[in-house]
Amino acid sequence: MKPVVFVTRRIPEVGLSPVREACQMRLWEGELPPPKDVLLREVADCDGLLCLLTDPIDAEVIAAGARLRVISQMAVGVDNIDLKAATARGIPVGHTPGVLTEATADFTFALLMAAARRVPEGVDYVRAGKWRTWEPMGLLGMDIWQATLGIIGLGRIGAAVARRARGFAMRILYYDPARRPDLEAELGVEYAELDDLLAQSDFVTLHCPLNAETYHLIDERALRRMKPTAILINAARGPVVDTAALVRALSEGWIRAAALDVTDPEPIPPDHPLVSLPNCVVVPHIASATVATRERMATMAAENLLAGLRGERLPYCANPDVYTARA
Ligand code: DGY
Repeated sequence: MKPVVFVTRRIPEVGLSPVREACQMRLWEGELPPPKDVLLREVADCDGLLCLLTDPIDAEVIAAGARLRVISQMAVGVDNIDLKAATARGIPVGHTPGVLTEATADFTFALLMAAARRVPEGVDYVRAGKWRTWEPMGLLGMDIWQATLGIIGLGRIGAAVARRARGFAMRILYYDPARRPDLEAELGVEYAELDDLLAQSDFVTLHCPLNAETYHLIDERALRRMKPTAILINAARGPVVDTAALVRALSEGWIRAAALDVTDPEPIPPDHPLVSLPNCVVVPHIASATVATRERMATMAAENLLAGLRGERLPYCANPDVYTARA
């Protein structure tokens, strides 16, 4: 008997076909995530679950999956999954670290440059027929070359952003609970306490996971510490930033601009103030959205799922303590 798996959305075929071959695969064909009642019903008789960051895999869902042996998420971040509940049940959770690092770092720079040089405003200007001449003082932005970049979270993606920043001769500060002398030496990045980083940076970019420590890390107090000319970039998770405080910061000029790949709530409603503020660039969580990256993520998610179903250790496991707990 082939194991039964539920896949919560159509993913690139390179990931789906090995799962289809090895398993009795049930695929949610909806464009939007399956509603909670569907998720609860589907996991009830599944051996494996392949899910996305938009699926709330909470304690209730995990408890409903009485037969679940593996959860595999096609994303590196797993803040939507109750890892504690999965570990307590002995269920390994797979994720996709590494393969989206470079695409996400590239996109962080795309956001940074779009906000600094007001690219979306320029596009709107031309589309609205307002471009009548070369303007000596039109759409002036901020220099990137030799500016100070503050990286919050110097993991894989933060370090990849730092590598790119070196090409712009930027001074690079970082804040991370774990100091990284190896990367300080390799990349010439300087450790700074959070408050110092916020006060000194021309650009603050977020690359930390979402957890109890980082929830609303960028709140009113943090935003008020930033330079009035500073730009905030978020390609991590929406709730790392207090949205209400950010709206005020951008409307009242505490900071100059923001560029967001992620928001809280997500998706953000089109009538939300962040969407219409001219000094805020919002895009729909697409930092890892390249053809090659999404194919690698799907492949890794399938590898994790199938390893878990075979009873093997997951190649990319987000809760490795599940194995020590078992031993
Ligand atoms: C992830 O994998 O966690 C990213 O947010 C997807 O772009």
